[in-house]
Amino acid sequence: MGLIPDGTVDLVVTSPPYPMIEMWDEPLAEVDPKIASALSAGDGPAAFELMHRQLDGVWAESYRVLRQGGFLCINVGDATRKVKDIFRLYSNHARIVSHCESLGFQSLPLILWRKQTNAPNKFMGSGMLPSGAYATLEHEYVLVLRKGGKRDFSEADAVRRRESAFFWEERNVWFSDMWDLKGTRQVLAPNEARSRSAAYPLELVHRLINMYSMQGDLVLDPFLGTGTTAAACVLNARNSVGFELLEGFAPLIRETMATMGRVANGAVAERLRAHLSFVEDYHNRTGKTLGHTSRAYGFPVMTRQEVELQLPGLESLQESLQESGGLQFTAAHSPAGLDSASKNTPVKVEPRDDDSHQLTMSFDL
Ligand SMILES: C[S@@+](CC[C@H](N)C(=O)[O-])C[C@H]1O[C@@H](n2cnc3c(N)ncnc32)[C@H](O)[C@@H]1O
Repeated sequence: MGLIPDGTVDLVVTSPPYPMIEMWDEPLAEVDPKIASALSAGDGPAAFELMHRQLDGVWAESYRVLRQGGFLCINVGDATRKVKDIFRLYSNHARIVSHCESLGFQSLPLILWRKQTNAPNKFMGSGMLPSGAYATLEHEYVLVLRKGGKRDFSEADAVRRRESAFFWEERNVWFSDMWDLKGTRQVLAPNEARSRSAAYPLELVHRLINMYSMQGDLVLDPFLGTGTTAAACVLNARNSVGFELLEGFAPLIRETMATMGRVANGAVAERLRAHLSFVEDYHNRTGKTLGHTSRAYGFPVMTRQEVELQLPGLESLQESLQESGGLQFTAAHSPAGLDSASKNTPVKVEPRDDDSHQLTMSFDL
């Protein structure tokens, strides 16, 4: 991350390898062999601490490259594990928050990503007998931290900020502290390679990018994996930069970007359609029309803050060769028109039972 000058990144969104989750033992121990020794000596807490020391360097670098008022959003899960007959919780989120605060980050309310499982063997321990059973971990965290106080917006920024607004009804879902992402945007279809890579859902990073950055901002992912963050940046007209330890991820990143190139305009059209269905629903329920009108689209919106909102349409997305040997993609955007909501028809759009404004999308690729 030394390539990135101080104070030039607007948002960091990432998901690190999760300490004490077995799939990450080996890659973390490759960087620091003391981790393997601690595990084989049965010293869980020492292994946990050494694993976090590796991540600590990334949080310090994130602090350095972020601008004042820039956000760091970290998706991480805690781990439960038995090491040398001792079963216990390793609280990754607590360790990361306390370290980030020691670096100078301010903590803001975090989000719980609920990943409910119906697996019959999900309960651990002594079954129906007290007191040796443990609650099942069915959530991960999205930690939200900020460097310094609120971001300052220049006059030019203020225009870009209003264009980067999101819909009122999106705000109501996104700014809840409990996200249930089952049945939401699945543009990057889960497949075996994606799940082995521990990729996070596009919807998760799509929300964070909209909540904490503006169009044209620079978003960094220090643990890029399959490139979900970069793809979400293409979808939302943000610049992005990412780092990945394993070169083997390059074909997966290419695939993620190629998929986004095909489906981005369909996903934008879907957002517009979801808003139109909200408008219609509101009218049917209340007999009233929303009080403001979108300048770009002419449809009603709930608040003044949404009047200048303008979603980005993707004109082109191309891979360009980078001298350093890294991957580089160049995207061109232009404002998405309302007609895109009737074109680019996704294959299936199914309202969820519990919330008709969250849509399940799937695309024929
Ligand atoms: C949880 S995954 C990120 C997945 C990504 N968000 C996505 O959607 O594909 C963490 C990534 O960090 C990378 N990584 C970087 N440094 C690492 C280290 N020291 N140990 C283990 N993994 C590391 C891994 O190769 C892996 O791709």
